[in-house]
Formats: sequence, C-alpha cells, structure tokens
Amino acid sequence: MVKKIKKIGIITTGGDCSGLNTAIYRIIQACNQRGWKCFGILDGMDGLMARPQRIIPLTMKSVELFWARISGSYLQNGSYKGTALGLKDSILANKENEFIRKMTDSVKRLGFDALILIGGNGSMSLAYRHLKIYNNLQFIGIPKTIDMDVPGTDITIGFSTAVSQLTQFSDDILMSARSHHRWFIIQAMGRDVGYLPLTAGIASYADAIIIPEIAWSESGLLNHIKKIEKDTGRDWGIIMVSEGVKSKSKNKSVVESISEMLFKNKYNNRVVNPGHLQRGGDSDSDDRIVATSMAMTAIGAIEAGETNVLVVRENDEYKTISLDKMFHSGEIVADPKVPNVYASFSYVEESNPLLKVAKSLGIYLGDMKTVH
Ligand code: F6P
Repeated sequence: MVKKIKKIGIITTGGDCSGLNTAIYRIIQACNQRGWKCFGILDGMDGLMARPQRIIPLTMKSVELFWARISGSYLQNGSYKGTALGLKDSILANKENEFIRKMTDSVKRLGFDALILIGGNGSMSLAYRHLKIYNNLQFIGIPKTIDMDVPGTDITIGFSTAVSQLTQFSDDILMSARSHHRWFIIQAMGRDVGYLPLTAGIASYADAIIIPEIAWSESGLLNHIKKIEKDTGRDWGIIMVSEGVKSKSKNKSVVESISEMLFKNKYNNRVVNPGHLQRGGDSDSDDRIVATSMAMTAIGAIEAGETNVLVVRENDEYKTISLDKMFHSGEIVADPKVPNVYASFSYVEESNPLLKVAKSLGIYLGDMKTVH
C-alpha cells in the first residue's frame, strides 16, 4: 500500500542554473494542491549537515510568483562544501563515515516522507553511492545542469536557457567581429562534455566548434579559416571552444593557443569568455516547460511510492528511471583526485544528430572521430 504523504523536502545542490526556481515553485504549487507540507533545505548539503538543519517552510504565501522565472536557486545551493564536493572532501579527509552518519541522522530527524534533490551529474552519482542515507524516505532526483552531462535523460533543467544565453552573447559580439575583421574565440562552459558549445555554436552560426569529444588540430582549424576567407571573402566570425578541451601546452589554455596560432598566420582575433552569464538569465520557455514537467513527474513518483529514482525525459516522454540505471547508462569515470569516487557522464556521441548537421554544413568539428 502506498504511504500517505504529509511532508516533503526539496534541496538544490551543485552549480545554479535557470529553471531551478520554476521546479521549486511547481513542487510547492503541487504540494499545496495535495495538502502536503513542503520544506526547503537551505544551502544544499551545508544545510543538511548543519545543526540544527537549515530548513524553511515553502508555501504559496512564502514564495512569490515572480521568483519562479528568475535564475539561481531560491533555496541557494551553498558553498563548494554544500555540493557533492562536500562529500568528496569528507572522503579525502577520511571522514566519509562521519558524513554518512550525520546525513542519515539529519534525514531521519527531518521526518520527510520524500526528498526531491535537484542536482547535477556529481550530486546524482554521489547520491547513488550513498543511497542508504535516504533509506527512511522516498528519494527522487531531478536533473539540472547547463552541461547536460547527466546520463539517462535527453534534457536537463537549465540547458536550454544556457544555450540561449551563449547564443545571445555570440550574437552580441558578431558585429564587432565584422567591424574589425576579427575572429572571436569564445570559451564556452560545459565542463567535460560538449553539448552546450555544440548547440549554441550551431545556433550562433559559428564556423568552428571544438568540443572535448572530438579530436582536432590547429592546422585543421587554420585550413578551415583560410578556406572561408578564400570562398566567401569573410575574415571574421565565431570559433566556439568548449572549456573541457584539453590544452596541448603546459602554460597556455586552448583558447590562448588558438589565438596565438591565428595571429601568427595574420588573422586578427580576440578571446572572450561569457563565464557565468551562461548560468544566468530568466528561464526561457523551454526550461520552464522542462522544469514544470520534471517537477510534476517527481510528484507523481512520490504518489506512486517510488524511491531511488531519477526523473528523465526520454523521446519526449517524462518518466523515472532507477538511479542504478542512470549511473550505468553513462560512461563511468574515476575522479582523478578522490580515490574510489566515480561519476557517470553522458558525452556527445558520434550518432548525435547535431554533429551530422554541423558536418553537412561544413562547420569545422575536428576530424569527427569521437574520443569517448
Ligand atoms: O557544472 C556547471 C558549470 O557551470 C560548468 O559548466 C563549469 O565548469 C563550472 O560549473 C563552473 O563552476 P564554478 O561556478 O565553481 O566556477
């Protein structure tokens, strides 16, 4: 028999992004409809580890409607220690058991029937490692990250707005590129995977998109730039580079090396970095729909008595999969800094339709053999 729900908690962990507040607001709205009490944990894991735990009641009166669309998290995600990294730190300091004990105690004391964790790849991988912490309640994960690196789902909350933000940034400097006959080398976020630069690169008409999954060369890029000039007379444009691309030089970043190589070949250029702008901006309509649908799928999962699951979108269908399935549908990568810590990543695969699109448009993508 499915348990009667009285009280649920929400926690946001890891880097912020747009769409988090939509998800939080929709969960509160759904709880209000059902007569469930809803609480928010402040500052991610920091708030759970604190004594007393830092929680606030979330009601339709306490959270104002305008919050729903703005970026960041109403609950705040906390410091680095307030993310999954807090757990990594405890492992490094040989205090993992203490961490688990404290977290288990917190979860018990709070007496939630269910906990919805809105987090990224690291948070989900570490939750999977320590599911016993959540033994006393229904644990439901909702994936959010601008990186889109959570396995098992076709979309994560925050991705769409980040693509819009990066595209807008690129649009805003394109005329400057034309005015000064310059190439702009944009360093995009996305951690170790290339979804964000690949998608925004196509949306912003970039001539070259360099992502960690595809091997590339400076000579290949240079030949491409030369060809554009020869074929079209254009000596300006956008080169989109993922921050996850490894530098071949010890003292220079990839974007600096590209810049230097272009200058050597008489191509005027500048490196620009949109940075955390990619995590800001009002949530776009796609993210609002994704966040709303994921929030409601989480509520449905709670009602159905599910636990240890992740909300996903697969082929346009919102549903849940087990955290075990999530973890094993990605590429499992060991953390080089923390022994026995693994995260499961979703990389851009060779079959990704956007790669095909970019290739058939003649956009430079390296040699198109995926590294992962
Ligand atoms: O995971 C989200 C992300 O924005 C990555 O794209 C980026 O590498 C990282 O977080 C930046 O982290 P911080 O906010 O700590 O600089």
